[in-house]
Amino acid sequence: LVQGEFIPLDLKTLVGMLPKGGSILGTSRTNPFKSGDGANRILKNVSEHDIEAVIAIGGEDTLGVAYKLNEMGLPVVGVPKTIDNDLIGTDYTFGFQTAVAIACEALDRLHTTAESHHRVIILEVMGRYTGWIALEAGIAGGADVILIPEKPFEIEEVCECLRKRQKRGRNFSIIVAAEGAKPKGGKEIVYSSGVDEFGHARFGGVGYYIGKEIEKRFENIDTRVVVLGHLQRGGSPIAFDRVLATRFGIAAIDLVHEGRFGEMVAIQGNTMVSVPLKDVVGKRKTVDLNLYEIAATFFG
Ligand code: F6P
Repeated sequence: LVQGEFIPLDLKTLVGMLPKGGSILGTSRTNPFKSGDGANRILKNVSEHDIEAVIAIGGEDTLGVAYKLNEMGLPVVGVPKTIDNDLIGTDYTFGFQTAVAIACEALDRLHTTAESHHRVIILEVMGRYTGWIALEAGIAGGADVILIPEKPFEIEEVCECLRKRQKRGRNFSIIVAAEGAKPKGGKEIVYSSGVDEFGHARFGGVGYYIGKEIEKRFENIDTRVVVLGHLQRGGSPIAFDRVLATRFGIAAIDLVHEGRFGEMVAIQGNTMVSVPLKDVVGKRKTVDLNLYEIAATFFG
């Protein structure tokens, strides 16, 4: 939209898309409100190409831009898509359940080495400021400790869980850490300094931090760290996400036909609804702490 490059979404382009992940347009992480006259160029390109509506598919950044453009008069409908599942107003964003399934499979595979080699293996998963992937994958994959941004951790408490397991003869453990998990009173661990055009730091490294802290406190524990990274965001989506994306797509077209711009399609219960973009942007859906507490009763 900023550069005025377009792909007609005809049958030839769309055929065979269901099993594909990613974006056929290319995802830019560009903030048009940061780069000079980006927003005005969008409005100009839209009008010059006779585009009647824009369907913005993405997470908090894409939808934040979509909201601002709608306020400037652009007819926009939003579709919630992010593995982070952190958007208010919708129970699920598409991509999330696929990421959970991949992280869960990773946990199943990591159990093999953890058990055979008597190790503590830490799996670091994405999710940015929320622990949705870590919590759901951790529960499904039988993690012994789950660390999420919503509940800053004490490394001593983590070690206590490991000690309890050792006392019960469990000489291996699996820890799932969300990339945004942080020690109490501390900050998220970042991979590099600086922020992107939306002001986000690049998280990464909390798994290694935890591994080293555990090794400092135990002579008899060998740790290994796996950072799942973009593996959990790529490849073929699971059936749930394919169905959800299809339902969102149809609901988005319905909103366009009804002229209901400035709204985002959403799923609540199992029902397609829509919510105003203004109620979505600038907020964050954090994990259900009741569910976290239930999971935590099984730690250690
Ligand atoms: O927002 C989706 C997400 O995958 C986050 O979970 C993660 O922190 C970030 O994007 C990674 O972004 P990038 O691919 O730009 O490194």
